[in-house]
Amino acid sequence: MSSIPKISVIGAGNVGSAAAYRALELNFCDIVLLDIVEGLPQGKALDITQMLAVTGVSSKIIGTNDYADTKDSDVVIITSGLARKPGMSRDDLLSTNTKIIKEVTEKVINYSPNCIIIVVTNPLDAMTYVASKVSGFPKERIVGMAGILDTSRYKAFLSMELNISVSKIDSLVLGGHGDDMVPLKNYTTVSGVPISQLISDNRLNEIIQRTRDGGAEIVKLLKTGSAFYAPGVSSIEMAYSIIMNERKILPCCAYANGEYKINDQFVGLPVILSSKGVEKIIEIDLSEDEQKELEVSASHVKELCDLIDSFNIL
Ligand code: NAI
Ligand code: 2OP
Repeated sequence: MSSIPKISVIGAGNVGSAAAYRALELNFCDIVLLDIVEGLPQGKALDITQMLAVTGVSSKIIGTNDYADTKDSDVVIITSGLARKPGMSRDDLLSTNTKIIKEVTEKVINYSPNCIIIVVTNPLDAMTYVASKVSGFPKERIVGMAGILDTSRYKAFLSMELNISVSKIDSLVLGGHGDDMVPLKNYTTVSGVPISQLISDNRLNEIIQRTRDGGAEIVKLLKTGSAFYAPGVSSIEMAYSIIMNERKILPCCAYANGEYKINDQFVGLPVILSSKGVEKIIEIDLSEDEQKELEVSASHVKELCDLIDSFNIL
């Protein structure tokens, strides 16, 4: 990695700018914020630069429309594409965002052939597949962000239900970033206490459903777009673990080749994120039901990837 780590964020919309803001708050890297719209990344970068003059952070951000400025990035976070509007599923975004991710990935790898790519654009697991196929990068250098966000929603709802600090809640949400994501009840604990001792199964199932609908709940409220603060921060949680070689175990969209009986596809699983990217998929025991749910979720992702293949544009 270069002496001051460099992260490029493609897409200076809601998620991209929230990610840039969070990275600069943590003061661990310089940021290049790129968008296709002229003036947008430049304006946001200037605004954030002026924020840094208040907070006293020395990291730098530039806004640009030129991929040459992303040269030799250590990590590239791709947020470019359409976001959901009310009534749209994540999958409705498939064909437009496939074309955008293809174009963006080609340009990114031209200037940063050794970077690690974090995909955020929806439908997440399928777009991670697109970035992988277009880049031809080793699979550990392509990873998607969703599980951290979905887990954070689950934890937030549990903390609201129990009226306790979220900081002691632990859990994992696996599977695709869709309506059939898989929150793991057996790995949900509060200060080590299994969640089943604190919340009835019926109530927990309602909270799990709210988690699955968590993105749509915000879309319905915002009316003109989708969530961005939690997604931006979740993306930087991953970038930080990679750049600082933290080796955190995080739920991320990673390439499975036999793990959890899932073959040759990207889906949300617990991984060690290090300076190599996805260093390892951690295999944990799942109940029969959880394993089945994970396989169903993975098969939905596979259907989307097959549909993308049928477009013949990659
Ligand atoms: P947004 O509309 O605010 O920003 C998207 C930006 O991408 C726009 O500024 C647009 O000009 C830019 N863009 C479009 N085509 C481009 C291209 N070819 N090259 C460069 N930039 C381009 O949308 P928002 O809210 O930032 O969401 C971005 C994406 O992230 C959406 O697909 C959304 O569904 C997804 N998302 C995924 C989450 C996850 O958990 N994986 C969570 C939240 C959002
Ligand atoms: C979310 O979950 C829309 O995928 C986005 O908020």
